[in-house]
Amino acid sequence: MMLAISVCSLFVVLGIAQDLSVPSTWREPSTSRSLSERITISQAATNSILPQLTSNNGQFNGIGYWQSANVWSALAIQDEVIGSTTNEAAVTNGLNTAFSLYSDYDQFGVGHFISPMTAYLISIFTIKQFGLILVLRWWATAAVYAYRAYGDTNLLAHAVAVWNHVTTYVVTPAAASSGTLATKSFTVSGTCDGVTMAGGVFWRSTTDDQGINSITTGLYVTLSAYLGEIYGDSKYTNAAIASANWIKNLNINSGDIVLDTVNGHDCTRSPSSWLFTYNSGKYIEGLSVLGAVTGDAQWTNLMLDIVAAAVKSSAWEGTDGIITEGASPSSNNDDVGFKAIFIRGLHETFTRSASNTNLQGLIRSYIDVQYNALLELADNGSTYSSAWNGPPQSFTTWGQLAALDVLVSAIDTNN
Ligand SMILES: *[C@@H]1O[C@H](CO)[C@@H](O)[C@H](O)[C@H]1NC(C)=O
Repeated sequence: MMLAISVCSLFVVLGIAQDLSVPSTWREPSTSRSLSERITISQAATNSILPQLTSNNGQFNGIGYWQSANVWSALAIQDEVIGSTTNEAAVTNGLNTAFSLYSDYDQFGVGHFISPMTAYLISIFTIKQFGLILVLRWWATAAVYAYRAYGDTNLLAHAVAVWNHVTTYVVTPAAASSGTLATKSFTVSGTCDGVTMAGGVFWRSTTDDQGINSITTGLYVTLSAYLGEIYGDSKYTNAAIASANWIKNLNINSGDIVLDTVNGHDCTRSPSSWLFTYNSGKYIEGLSVLGAVTGDAQWTNLMLDIVAAAVKSSAWEGTDGIITEGASPSSNNDDVGFKAIFIRGLHETFTRSASNTNLQGLIRSYIDVQYNALLELADNGSTYSSAWNGPPQSFTTWGQLAALDVLVSAIDTNN
């Protein structure tokens, strides 16, 4: 009896609650394609999107600025996985071009290259519509992936510059206690639901915008954890921990899925039905890096909880496991790019989980479900619909963007 109780509490203490089994209802959770075939498929998809590049601004026709950063991310990770430099020139040029054109990758900031009148018009019309502070970080993480792939310290410096810039939009402990943050014009709420708001990150630079969301905060966790890992500097690691705690304590639902937004002034929340793959996906990535950097098992355990829930969530997939979020054959929208972020986060976690074969097996199977759907239901030659259940269609830049991370990850997660 005593033994049974202590074994039971041991399981609770260690957090061994996750079900990492592969559902029997998933469609084709494995692949027999060879490594060389998987590399060929991925590079063919890359070659099909590169003609959409506008070389003078580092962006792609048909998708938004943040989505373009994620094309560069996928290409860099592909080279990192294969150990090749096939896409190095394109990636490096794209990131350098955007960085030199827009200070700190800040496309909507006021730089020397635009007139005061243009700056004024942008300040009225554009910044209201775009998540400026959010967007910078997509480019900064692309620069980190490119640094990992190519060892280019100039690109790493871009990521540091962005980190310094966006850190001014993080709720510090001082801001949480005084209610004042220099970049914001309103009183910041020190706590919401009895939990400190320290570590939350505002997603827009507009002084009166009050939204703090999980994707902006999760990107900050991830960027900070990567920089902490690369530099061994606790200022980055501590920033990652504070922001990881914000999501952990404030913005995860009872089913272990990451929620969207909390208002930094009045604590109102986005609807509980706002469940998007990328919120959980980016946080999973940040937690897996943070767990490795700190050696603190709480982050790895939290990551396991969220992975186990997210790959089986009915919020974005059917019982066959194929992601249905962001299926948009006729027009681009932000949601189209979310699932790529989710898959990339799972892939990063896979690479850091060699000691957990159940977790690796679950992630491999999940990515193979998406891979087989793309190659059998959504493909037209080397181009892919954003509707992963199909049917195939003519090339769209957004459909291609969404597919890249699956094709790249499947190179690495299969044998
Ligand atoms: C495949 O792409 C080609 C070229 O863009 C297009 O003409 C064709 O209609 C597409 N096939 C399907 C099934 O949509």
